[in-house]
Amino acid sequence: MTPRANTMRATQPQAPSAEAAAFGEAVLKGLSSPRKRLPCQYFYDAVGSELFEEITRLEEYYPTRTETAILREHARSMVRPAGRRAVLVEFGSGSSRKTELVLAALEAPRAYVPIDVSQSALTDAWRRLQQRFPGLEIVPVNSSFCQALRLPARVHPHAKLGFFPGSTIGNFDPPDAGRLLAHFARVLGPGSRLIVGVDLDKDARRLEAAYDDAKGVTARFNLNLLERINRELGGEFDLTRFQHRAIYDRQFKRIEMHLVSRVAQTVPLLGRSFQFAAGESIHTENSYKYSVEQFRALAQGAGWRPARVWTDAGRDFSVHELTMSDPTGSGCD
Ligand code: AVI
Repeated sequence: MTPRANTMRATQPQAPSAEAAAFGEAVLKGLSSPRKRLPCQYFYDAVGSELFEEITRLEEYYPTRTETAILREHARSMVRPAGRRAVLVEFGSGSSRKTELVLAALEAPRAYVPIDVSQSALTDAWRRLQQRFPGLEIVPVNSSFCQALRLPARVHPHAKLGFFPGSTIGNFDPPDAGRLLAHFARVLGPGSRLIVGVDLDKDARRLEAAYDDAKGVTARFNLNLLERINRELGGEFDLTRFQHRAIYDRQFKRIEMHLVSRVAQTVPLLGRSFQFAAGESIHTENSYKYSVEQFRALAQGAGWRPARVWTDAGRDFSVHELTMSDPTGSGCD
């Protein structure tokens, strides 16, 4: 950086980027609501993404290894109907780790279209996949998968196989999950297929352990949200005054993650101050769990035709094949 640029920095405060402004707005809105909440999409800054990768390797967090084992065993049969020269479109591709299993199973894929908000995740995945699949055309789309988006024109003529692994669908309330599936149908276009990973409902103790592990990685992941607010919005959260909590709500079939204030306190943020009673919580994430039948009904309501389902022997996790009946539902944007 030139000295002139440094001078400019010191004297001219920069307007916040659109992204920072949206983050600030979402945080203020969530903390002002009678039951404080923060949107889980903001977990995934660089630190949060690394912590999430660590979560996926934890003994207690069964979803990643179980889904990976299902894909490893059944990927060939899963992708067979997509045929030769299909285009794989991944929604929220992140590190694209599971994608390799699907790409390796596809017959001469025409292209891979990873869609993700993180440019650095797209770049890292592009580098790795170029090496593993030389000659594969990779067409990254830097966008939230919830937003209205059009696939690159050159992939339009080819059959599309959508891929949405990891049970990310569980982080949406069921009506939003339905809208999201309908949105994917519109993005992929008529005649496409979608492979979706969905975590299954199970014993509350196992679920709570998966979201509150003994090493405290999930606690750090949750608390990083407050740290991110401090870093990016100049917040003054004292992390030692909040505690991670994960509870399974059997009525709603969802794991809820919270940050619970250990004491009565006031936290200044963006010119405002937020009061917390001792024991008051900020609700940071829901992770819905489904039965196979419930998820099929949800997909059907969103305009998809549920087809095959694969699960592990313990029925911990499911992978669903959806085919398209009518791509006219409304999207999540
Ligand atoms: C990304 N998503 C599917 C994870 C889940 O299981 O709901 C996020 C997560 N939160 C805590 N642990 C993992």
